[in-house]
Amino acid sequence: MDKHQNEPRSLTLGKSELTGQTFQIPAARSGTKKWGIVGISGSGKTHNAAVLAEQYIHNSIPIVVFDPVGRWWDLGIAADGHSKGLPIAIIGGQHGQIDLTPDMGSAIARYVSEHRVPTVIDLSQMRSKSHWRQVVADFGNELFEINRTPVQIIIEEAPEFVPQRVMESVAGVYGAMDKLIRIGRNKGIGITLIAQRPQMINKDSLSQVNALLVMRLSDPGSIDAAQVWLEAQGADSDLIDTFIAQLPTLADGTGLVLSPAWLKTFDRVHFNLRETFHYDPESDEDETLTPDIAQAVDTAQLEKMFSKFMEKGRGAPSRPRAGGDAADTKRVAELEQRLRSAESRADELQTALEAAQESIITEDEVTQRIHLAVQDREARIVRLETMVNGFIEQAKQILDTNTLASPAILASGIAAPQAVAAYVAKQSEYFKNSTTTKILETMRDNYLRFPNGMTREEIALEAHYDPLGGRFNTTLRLLKKRKVIVQDGDRYLLNPAHLK
Ligand SMILES: Nc1ncnc2c1ncn2[C@@H]1O[C@H](COP(=O)(O)OP(=O)(O)OP(=O)(O)O)[C@@H](O)[C@H]1O
Ligand SMILES: [Mg+2]
Repeated sequence: MDKHQNEPRSLTLGKSELTGQTFQIPAARSGTKKWGIVGISGSGKTHNAAVLAEQYIHNSIPIVVFDPVGRWWDLGIAADGHSKGLPIAIIGGQHGQIDLTPDMGSAIARYVSEHRVPTVIDLSQMRSKSHWRQVVADFGNELFEINRTPVQIIIEEAPEFVPQRVMESVAGVYGAMDKLIRIGRNKGIGITLIAQRPQMINKDSLSQVNALLVMRLSDPGSIDAAQVWLEAQGADSDLIDTFIAQLPTLADGTGLVLSPAWLKTFDRVHFNLRETFHYDPESDEDETLTPDIAQAVDTAQLEKMFSKFMEKGRGAPSRPRAGGDAADTKRVAELEQRLRSAESRADELQTALEAAQESIITEDEVTQRIHLAVQDREARIVRLETMVNGFIEQAKQILDTNTLASPAILASGIAAPQAVAAYVAKQSEYFKNSTTTKILETMRDNYLRFPNGMTREEIALEAHYDPLGGRFNTTLRLLKKRKVIVQDGDRYLLNPAHLK
């Protein structure tokens, strides 16, 4: 499976649907990059993350997968579902070479860093989420201390570890991941965060990714989160609109690759099919599957390295051990079963506690909210005063000159309302963008009230936008750049040169 070894070093991921060209990215420096992969269930996240993983492995960049779903062992099987795929070590889960115990995280980090073996850490048979978090946190903290050469960590169900709302029970793993995401690059560490809904991933974490692969998305909350990410990266508002409009109809396996700074790419890519097997839990065929998983390290060696944990066997799923007497084995199995149900009950309680905590608003939060509301009111009053003053000024002018079309007004540089309306209609038609149209129509409707132009805040207030909103400001900048509007001090005017 090392057929790509002598080819130029790049990760070949698929085909651009915009240009028809092969979509590939340079392998150099890719190992320490951060990816976000988001999309609804069944859109192809795991499949495409596996294509990425295969390419990393071909370029001698080891990957480590944290897999709460129990799917990633299939990397060790070829696409035909029977012969060997890419050699991996599997710790935990149904196909684990060795069992996973909650205290193994640091040892796994040392193993990966030293041996550089692609490793799947299958969390799926660990019922307690607190154990998942312990493994990931210990692994992250230790890897940060000792690692120096590129390794790419792939995290399925990323919101379990870097959630938007960091409750006490997640603080430890979040702290470890946050450190890796912010400064892990210096230690050779890259991360891929996979989630169905981007808004569930911690905003700070998502803001750090170098490339976002957005698969099909349909709910407005997810689409908004993708848009916010793009705006924060400084993408042009027209471009954002174009990409956002496509999200609900993307086909399985097709995603938008958005990477303004690293790859300088905005592309729609259909990913290649995996060269390894894509296990489909919904298919009947797999019932008869007798996989021959390619091992990167033989099980005896792995058992030896982790023997300290194997002996304890704590929290690990039962596996008949040689030499055990039948009654003992049964008793151990019973105890393990009881332990697992106690752990899963503890997890349920923890989840219920978190949900309850989430609905409690602390006194501080109440004070803070009142404070913000008062500030908002005060700002509104100031803006209204400014508007009223402008209006009075305008009324005075009208009284002074009797009629708008009077020579006095024309001489003062104010254009005829028909000219303003025609200009705005023409520009809106040209840009075909809702934010642009709203801003221009607001400036048209208020043209006579603000003869000296409107401030950013005044436009935002009238057009019902947040004056600090990314999209609003990007659009305003674009209109200015294209000279549709001009700026005079802190005021914006429809370009008088075009209104004559
Ligand atoms: N590049 C691709 N080309 C063709 N088909 C694909 C491709 N990627 C994914 N698919 C199809 O989409 C199905 C779902 O993909 P996948 O299991 O990766 O979904 P997912 O987004 O990870 O879903 P979930 O969130 O439920 O885990 C696959 O079984 C496969 O048939
Ligand atoms: Mg998946």
